[in-house]
Amino acid sequence: MDKSKRTAIIAGNWKMNKTPKEAKALLTELIPMVKDADCEVVACVPFVDLTVALEVTEGTNIKIGAENCHWEESGAYTGEISAKMLAEMGVPYVVLGHSERRQYFGETDETVNKRTKAALAAGLKPIVCVGELLWERECNITEEVIARQIKLDLFDISAEDVKKTVIAYEPVWAIGTGKTATADQAQEVCSFIRATLAKLYGEETAEAVTIQYGGSMNDGNCEELLSKVDVDGGLIGGASLVAAKFQPIVAAASK
Ligand code: PGA
Repeated sequence: MDKSKRTAIIAGNWKMNKTPKEAKALLTELIPMVKDADCEVVACVPFVDLTVALEVTEGTNIKIGAENCHWEESGAYTGEISAKMLAEMGVPYVVLGHSERRQYFGETDETVNKRTKAALAAGLKPIVCVGELLWERECNITEEVIARQIKLDLFDISAEDVKKTVIAYEPVWAIGTGKTATADQAQEVCSFIRATLAKLYGEETAEAVTIQYGGSMNDGNCEELLSKVDVDGGLIGGASLVAAKFQPIVAAASK
């Protein structure tokens, strides 16, 4: 295992927070704080913030992401945004299959798979989220749940494209709850994800994929989580909304 082969990525997932004005203010504050980061820094923002976010971060080391995209290029899908639209704007990243999309908006592994394929075809880097519910962990089926999600979400995607995909392990019980997986629990599942990728796509591909942990990661627990060999970064919700809370996580990933 050689962690240095992989890009460490700290990505903020702003969810439904920050108006365009607020987005501009947060990014303007963050830019000087993370300018020397030795990891990839990404802010995944609401669709309406993308224009201002791209403008403010132009020429900086902060990359911008969207929080979802549709699988069709265009058509009668009221309220949806296509991968092609994001790509044309110059958005490099997109979060897909977040547990909130699965829980509240009927997202399934099938639609996550379609969205992932569309994102890759449009040249975007998908951050595909997987994770078990609390009762699934309690029933001791975490590995089955994760393996199923990985197999279905990445179904029919080439090894070359899988290398461009980021996987975020987000145990659903740890998201926004203040309950973090312990560093050992995070490592155990991230390593299982890599082993699953190795079975499906070979060792070389599995070794190249960035696997993030997400779920109440903050300035107090990030160092230990990020020190684990298969935890290559973080997908950060709450703590990405305040520059002073996000910056220490970027700093920890830069060590
Ligand atoms: P949280 O969210 O850091 O607020 O737990 C993480 C996420 O949902 O990506």
